[in-house]
Amino acid sequence: MSTLIVLGTQWGDEGKGKVVHYLSKQADYIVRYQGGNNAGHTLIFEDKPFVLHLIPSGILFPEKYCLITNGVVVDLKSLKREVDVLAKKKIVIKNRFFISEQAHIILPYHKIIDGILEDRNIKIGTTRKGIGPAYADKVKRIGIRTVDYLERDVFEDLLEKNLIEKVAVLKDKVDITDLKKKILEDYNELSEFVRPFIANTSFMIERAISDNKRILFESAQGTLLDLDFGTYPFVTSSNPIAGGVCSGAGVGPTRINNVLGVMKAYTTRVGEGPFTTELFDEVGDYLRERGGEYGATTGRPRRCGWFDSVIIRHSVRVNDIKHLILTKLDCMEDLDKIKICVAYKYKNKIYKEFPASRTIQKYAKPVYEEMPGFNGKVKGVINFESLPTNAQRYIKRLEELIGASIDLVSVGRKREEIIEVNKDINWL
Ligand code: IMP
Repeated sequence: MSTLIVLGTQWGDEGKGKVVHYLSKQADYIVRYQGGNNAGHTLIFEDKPFVLHLIPSGILFPEKYCLITNGVVVDLKSLKREVDVLAKKKIVIKNRFFISEQAHIILPYHKIIDGILEDRNIKIGTTRKGIGPAYADKVKRIGIRTVDYLERDVFEDLLEKNLIEKVAVLKDKVDITDLKKKILEDYNELSEFVRPFIANTSFMIERAISDNKRILFESAQGTLLDLDFGTYPFVTSSNPIAGGVCSGAGVGPTRINNVLGVMKAYTTRVGEGPFTTELFDEVGDYLRERGGEYGATTGRPRRCGWFDSVIIRHSVRVNDIKHLILTKLDCMEDLDKIKICVAYKYKNKIYKEFPASRTIQKYAKPVYEEMPGFNGKVKGVINFESLPTNAQRYIKRLEELIGASIDLVSVGRKREEIIEVNKDINWL
């Protein structure tokens, strides 16, 4: 049995797409266990950038199985667009792409409610894809799963009940009769499109594990956006943490062999919420431009800042991370000075552990350690010893601060631009 979870350790956008693409070669199955089309993986395929929101990036390898499990919320229209793009690229997905029958679906009213809540309540800066409202229905036990969608009478009954339940919120924004009509008009096309993909994915995974297949679970978003362990309420509505695999894919905890944390060499975040090391100066602008820090899903400029070891220590603990990949180190190569946040300070008290209080998260100031810039080329370097000495020191210092080892370092956009610091690890 060989299973690996690849997850984000910051606020998402750590470069998981590239890492999963890199490791997919060794995997038989690639599994998405939470989130929805709020995510966006930019991949380089045949030298061209390519964005996938829902379908695991492993789909680009012809012989791999790709699963979307019960913990994911699926917007069928958006999924269909992705499948159509893949078809245009001649990427065949029949008999190797499956969606859990227990995955909940996102319907147009979820997106409308997402927008209404953003404009009315605490602004989270969501992607407005209907993610939170779809998960809310799941928790309220009124959600509609793919298996329900396939039974037209069950679906129509649930749709009716859902619309009645939501009248108060929706009535000023849309004509509910029209909305229902449009949803039903799409029904035949979407149900026929999705039917061949629906399966018992938990069973498929169990069978694959018993057959000694290699399984890679990929998170969307990151630990600091986790519903329980992130910067609540500025989080997404699912659990990207390692524990999310068990409930989100129907896999027991003893079936998980390894966790690889993906960690950017600096920090970014999109949307609202606390960000202690955020930079508002030209260094922040430099990281944004050099790192191409614009959202793959919404195009929004990402907020940029220095590396924050407080949040990573938190991620290392809640996910039990022993191994990390450091990404985008090359994007820091021209900086004269580099800072690392080692703790937070609030009202004269030092915090080394990530505080749960939203007041402290908002007002804490970073305690920095300063290092000289790398003073040399990082992009394209192929082994650790060839990195500039200061870049090597930076990596070693990060390891000391976070208590886990950096075994891979990404130094460019291309799949091959990864340094294997520890060549002895068999990821899968
Ligand atoms: P939602 O997931 O659309 O509800 O958005 C909730 C929060 O998560 C917002 O701050 C979003 O910007 C953030 N978010 C959602 N998906 C991603 C992602 O893939 N990368 C980075 N941030 C994300």
